[in-house]
Amino acid sequence: MVKVGLLTERMMEVKDEVLALCVFEGAQIPEQLKQFTKDMSQKQFEGKSGQAFATLTLGNATFKRLLLIGMGKENEFELDFCRRAAGTALRFAESVKAASLSVMLPEVKGTAPADVAQAMAEGAILAGYKFTKFKTKKEDIFDAETVTLISKNDILPLENARVCGTILAEAQNYVREMDENPANIATPAQIAEYAKSLAKTNKLLIKVIEKNEMKKLGMNALIAVNQGSAEPPKLVVMEYNPGKKLPFYAVIGKGITFDSGGISLKPSKGMEEMKYDKTGALVVLGVLKAASELKFPIRLLGLMPLTENMPSGSAQKPGDIVKAYNGKTIEVLNTDAEGRLILADVLAYAAQKKPDAIIDLATLTGAMIVCLGRAGAGLFSNDDALSSVIEKAGLKTNERVWRFPLWPEYIELIKSDIADLKNISGEGEAGSITAAMFLKEFVGECRWAHIDIAGVDMINRPHPYLGKGASGIGVRLVVEALKNLSGQK
Ligand code: BES
Ligand code: ZN
Ligand code: ZN
Repeated sequence: MVKVGLLTERMMEVKDEVLALCVFEGAQIPEQLKQFTKDMSQKQFEGKSGQAFATLTLGNATFKRLLLIGMGKENEFELDFCRRAAGTALRFAESVKAASLSVMLPEVKGTAPADVAQAMAEGAILAGYKFTKFKTKKEDIFDAETVTLISKNDILPLENARVCGTILAEAQNYVREMDENPANIATPAQIAEYAKSLAKTNKLLIKVIEKNEMKKLGMNALIAVNQGSAEPPKLVVMEYNPGKKLPFYAVIGKGITFDSGGISLKPSKGMEEMKYDKTGALVVLGVLKAASELKFPIRLLGLMPLTENMPSGSAQKPGDIVKAYNGKTIEVLNTDAEGRLILADVLAYAAQKKPDAIIDLATLTGAMIVCLGRAGAGLFSNDDALSSVIEKAGLKTNERVWRFPLWPEYIELIKSDIADLKNISGEGEAGSITAAMFLKEFVGECRWAHIDIAGVDMINRPHPYLGKGASGIGVRLVVEALKNLSGQK
């Protein structure tokens, strides 16, 4: 992974192969650089967002190439422009096979220099990530090695921001790396091993609950989803600062390593994308990784129910009734609405431990993509203050969430005639909300927020700093929310 450094230096003394400079719309290009931009037409580069201009310095500077990156109007500035700019710089460097690049930290009125530095570190590390494990020919793959963020001022106050940005982006890449693996590799057992190795390096408590114990505990909804699969289920339970008297949070993630739909089989077109149905669980792992490396003064419980959802002679069938961990009975009318089943048991299990709040992440409903497209995730919660912390965190990390209502009318749609609940609404209305309403039945009185990440789990079009494939979105969001919930600076 590319390394991000910090340096106090004058622009014209940068000795890297590439020097990148952020330019706001209408701002002057520094005098010393004008010799390189004199042939550039006004139209070619006006500093507009999304614009970039690159030129060779042909021996007239200590750096070989100059890259100007448009930042748009300064009064319309958003922190994410810094991630985008760093991403653009990194991609440019790699396109010209430059192993090292320097990026001048822009000075932005009203924005803390540390926030800028952190966002730049994140953007560069996220943009540098590639999934190359299965490419046997590595010749065409080029990775930049170092990005140096250059400040005219003292870098000491920015060092912490550089470290935080690096930890967060690396945790997000860690999620992307496992998420990209298809279902024949990323089995529940394999992911449990991945979690164990994280637990070892980051000194986290880990316990893997196997099928027998699940049965004893009464996690019948999770077992029912697993029933059709040849791969045994795993419930990974991890804890950072276990048992300590600190603000205590639980983070839970849906870990379906492949969602075929089960007997309610999905159409084959696009079914391969259902390898990403484990993103929620992996985000939990990423959150534990980052929170422990950032040494957050919180106690954090992470829960990852892992299983495939497959059709077979032993699979659960539409109409089956199961009793979940909290004793509620569920009529399974559609085996493809499996995420809420595995979460039901685990939410109830977490609620029993009485954390100060539970946050779950799940690629829960296709309806989420109908609502919000791929621009943000859905937020559902029984607590206004918790929701507001998550909404604010999303604006800061640019992993935006939009809150949906959980009005009492919706519960009527998932009441079963013969059991307590049914796992789909007969009407097919408000699909993402009824799914969240279903989850709410399992958290009791606990403060809880559910983030439906279907749609943002995967990137399928050009993005300024995330390549195609698993996005790892959710890690920085939840870590930022936990930081604010526990009242840290
Ligand atoms: N994993 C899917 C949801 C999903 C769909 C995520 C598309 C990402 C992209 C989930 O398990 C599912 O199949 N949900 C059903 C629910 C329906 C049967 C009520 C859906 O959305 O169609
Ligand atoms: Zn499904
Ligand atoms: Zn699913």
